[in-house]
Amino acid sequence: MFWGSNTGNQEEAAGFLKDFMESEGVEMDEFNIADTDPKKMLEYKRLIIGCPTWHIGELQDDWDFIYSKYKELDFTGITAAFFGCGDQVGYADNFLDAIGLLAKPFMENGGTLIGRYPTEEYQFDNSLALDGDDFLGLGLDNDNEEELTEERLVIWGEIIKDEFGI
Ligand SMILES: Cc1cc2nc3c(=O)[nH]c(=O)nc-3n(C[C@H](O)[C@H](O)[C@H](O)COP(=O)(O)O)c2cc1C
Repeated sequence: MFWGSNTGNQEEAAGFLKDFMESEGVEMDEFNIADTDPKKMLEYKRLIIGCPTWHIGELQDDWDFIYSKYKELDFTGITAAFFGCGDQVGYADNFLDAIGLLAKPFMENGGTLIGRYPTEEYQFDNSLALDGDDFLGLGLDNDNEEELTEERLVIWGEIIKDEFGI
């Protein structure tokens, strides 16, 4: 799992997901993208990528810093699931954009995406993470629905375990 976080929400979600997956018998390495070369991702066949949306439709700062390198990686043979924190009330036109900004080049560069999550329980106007009636990954909204975060992570954790085939 590779994650980035400016104010701790994504970091906390990553920690919770790791504990949950390990309680289910899934071993996981974890890296803060702030101090990790993005090429490290290519050492794995299965990835979980966590990035909140910041600055009105942009990546979290550390992901933004390595984004041009990330977009050049060849993800052929790698399967990944994406999740991200956002704010559907304050940023309804750009809700979870970072998931789209990372997931699309991943797929364009040969990767297989799993872990789509239905949009129906969220209220927002637009998102780069949209894929029909789904998001390209799990959305978390600690600004407005913090009480749902752990439940969503458990539901999604089960989904990706299944879709990863582990
Ligand atoms: C200045 C600012 C800009 C933001 N822009 C967006 C945005 O465009 N879309 C969105 O969904 N959330 C946006 N958010 C909400 C953050 O994604 C949310 O607070 C998230 O939980 C932060 O994660 P972090 O604590 O891991 O950095 C923004 C928050 C701030 C403070």
